[in-house]
Amino acid sequence: MQALLDVYKIRQDFPILNRRLNDGKRLVYLDNAATTQKPNEVIDSISRYYKEYNSNIHRAVYQIAEEATEEYENTREKIRKFINARYPEEIIFTRNTTESINLVAYSWGYSNIKKGNKIVLTEYEHHSNIVPWQTLCHNKGARVKYLEVDADGYLKLEDLYDLISQKDDGKTKIISLSEMSNVLGTIFPAKEIIKIAHEKDIPVLLDGAQSVPHMKTDVQQSGCDFLAFSAHKMLGPTGVGVLYVRKEILEQMKPFILGGDMIKEVHKENTIFNDLPYRFEGGTPNIADVIGFSAAIDYLNRIGMDNVREHELEMTSYLLERIKGLKSVVIYGPKKAKDRGGLVSFNMDGIHPHDCATILNDFGVAIRSGHHCAQVLMEKLDIVASSRASLYIYNTKEEIDILIDALNHARRIFNT
Ligand SMILES: Cc1ncc(COP(=O)(O)O)c(C=O)c1O
Repeated sequence: MQALLDVYKIRQDFPILNRRLNDGKRLVYLDNAATTQKPNEVIDSISRYYKEYNSNIHRAVYQIAEEATEEYENTREKIRKFINARYPEEIIFTRNTTESINLVAYSWGYSNIKKGNKIVLTEYEHHSNIVPWQTLCHNKGARVKYLEVDADGYLKLEDLYDLISQKDDGKTKIISLSEMSNVLGTIFPAKEIIKIAHEKDIPVLLDGAQSVPHMKTDVQQSGCDFLAFSAHKMLGPTGVGVLYVRKEILEQMKPFILGGDMIKEVHKENTIFNDLPYRFEGGTPNIADVIGFSAAIDYLNRIGMDNVREHELEMTSYLLERIKGLKSVVIYGPKKAKDRGGLVSFNMDGIHPHDCATILNDFGVAIRSGHHCAQVLMEKLDIVASSRASLYIYNTKEEIDILIDALNHARRIFNT
């Protein structure tokens, strides 16, 4: 029985969950950390835009363009409320979390990072939150420092104190970290980290790719300066990301992508940039998918983010227990479900994760195997890959049972 959400009713909204594979096996989709499935409402709203009011936004004065502009800007306002930002100008549409972080590195980073400065990341970051900073540091003669994760997948806040302590001499200019690890599943204490950083006037970027879709987000309460996340990981379409920047910082930032729509006036020798946030949205944006994202936010709001989290907590406890029960299995990250988001990474002795995922596919079960774009963490864990099962609002305990049966089958095939 599903106590918190009417999961069986929710499932009816997701046409792909009716898909049959491999001799009629139903799809058991457990790769939600990579991308989530889309409800009819989202698919329909994108289709409605193209069928009824497809046009470019912000410029034309005719009716359908005004409708498109209104829907696009309504989404911005919806996102503002969803993360409790103060102003809609603080919400910038990008293509994904990766682009959002790059925008900060290229715009804020290139103006603020100087030779000898430090940028603090953690060992569990996704490549999207390493490579832009590493490249910036290479170009500027600055250095990336990594906060270590311990064997259970936690950070030590004392290490953060040490890294930015007196000896640091004001060299650390930004801390950028993921609020929830896409491999360990750990939910990190963002609020405490931000408090420590702010005592030293160091801004904090939160990579919310894994946290924003799964729990309530409040940028005023956490106090973060930047927050990056992707629509496709929270029922929305691909090709839409969000960057939140606290207004006081955004006002100081230079635009990153230059061209149409982000200007007020262009003359032969100079340009006057548009107001916030438009000066950060150069060129025609992904209008259809931003509008589709609006429907995804409505869907999540109707369920309630606290209920999303509660459901995942219940499911993660069950998933952890069932995986723990497998023979010769190593589970990465915290032992307690309450310290985790809805994902579990693991390895089974004697079975390569890719082989494991391939066998599971025969059962219609979709999980992810590989380094999960977190090779720095893989090095720390001394592995090259892991299997990862990740959950969302439509997953059931029956599906977890199918996963476990398939894993036991894999074990039998490999005779381990
Ligand atoms: C923690 C984290 N950060 C960043 C990303 C990158 O997201 P996107 O591919 O949508 O840019 C991901 C994607 O899995 C992620 O898990």
